[in-house]
Amino acid sequence: MAQLNTAKFLLNWFEKFEKKGICDAWASMKWLSLHAVPNLRNFLSNTDSPQDIRDWQKLSKLQLTIKERETLEQYFERRLNHEPVQYIIKEWDFYGRTFEMEPPVLICRPETEQMVDLIISSIKSQQQQQKTRDPFSFLEVGVGSGVIMTTLACEIPNAFGVGIDYNPKCIQLTQRNLQRQGVPSQRYELLQSDILEWGRDSKVCKRFANQFDLIVSNPPYVFTREMKGLDKSVVEWEDWRALDGGPHGLDVVECILGNSFWLLKNSTLSSVWLETHADHAVMIQNLEKENKFLTKKKLILTRVYSDWSQIDRFLQFSLLQA
Ligand SMILES: C[S@@+](CC[C@H](N)C(=O)[O-])C[C@H]1O[C@@H](n2cnc3c(N)ncnc32)[C@H](O)[C@@H]1O
Repeated sequence: MAQLNTAKFLLNWFEKFEKKGICDAWASMKWLSLHAVPNLRNFLSNTDSPQDIRDWQKLSKLQLTIKERETLEQYFERRLNHEPVQYIIKEWDFYGRTFEMEPPVLICRPETEQMVDLIISSIKSQQQQQKTRDPFSFLEVGVGSGVIMTTLACEIPNAFGVGIDYNPKCIQLTQRNLQRQGVPSQRYELLQSDILEWGRDSKVCKRFANQFDLIVSNPPYVFTREMKGLDKSVVEWEDWRALDGGPHGLDVVECILGNSFWLLKNSTLSSVWLETHADHAVMIQNLEKENKFLTKKKLILTRVYSDWSQIDRFLQFSLLQA
């Protein structure tokens, strides 16, 4: 059998990706290749495009085993069908740890790492100021793969977390990821539940009344009219309900804020953290001014944080009075 020119082989697939309109064509080729053939690390690791490859000749001569080539071809065919890289290789990194990923559970995004980082700094500085090691209790609404909940449990050693999601697949995947990262089962509880059905007198709210120091969520916040404009690998593969937040992207957000008052501990230090749409900070501030939104729930938007692209993305709310 003629020897395979590995450089040509990879370039051919990259060009097929580009022709098919695969977003992140080079990154897709790179991550799939690195997963299937660790020997390609020296050639591909620090590249953002074909121009970054330093030694084409050496790469051309690198021989793939039959198994490696077959695996790569299977991976590439799947990506050509717009399947996300994370579902193909079944894992992705978040905040320095590797998590299992499974369709159609939402794939973790880098912006969410930023929110988690802000939350961890805020909790740690609060604990230092108060010189307290009291148990810290949090609720995550919409756990998805469990990246936020697991990271908080790993980084805040005295934290106890409750995680909810309407989708049983998310609950099962979060359970596996918590176990994978070695979080003991006494430190968390998972519950399949639809927050749209919650209210002060609901079973869940009664059970967890005034229990949490913090509520966190990366809720579905995309406006329904924007959904069709998302990339094919998102709309065709990820759960629609994980993304679509209704006509104004606020359906689940409103529900979280509406229920927070009776779920949070009665303290001015209690807070709610949300990752949101670029328009939401202004929309919520306007609603607050018109007295239509949060003030009646005794919560107030206390801080807006931008993400790396300078988009107002993360909102922190506090109780108006204890
Ligand atoms: C944007 S994803 C976030 C997933 C994960 N927390 C992350 O950051 O990667 C939103 C999550 O909320 C869940 N969800 C959507 N609507 C819900 C509802 N009404 N009640 C409970 N969970 C819901 C979805 O299943 C999905 O897992």
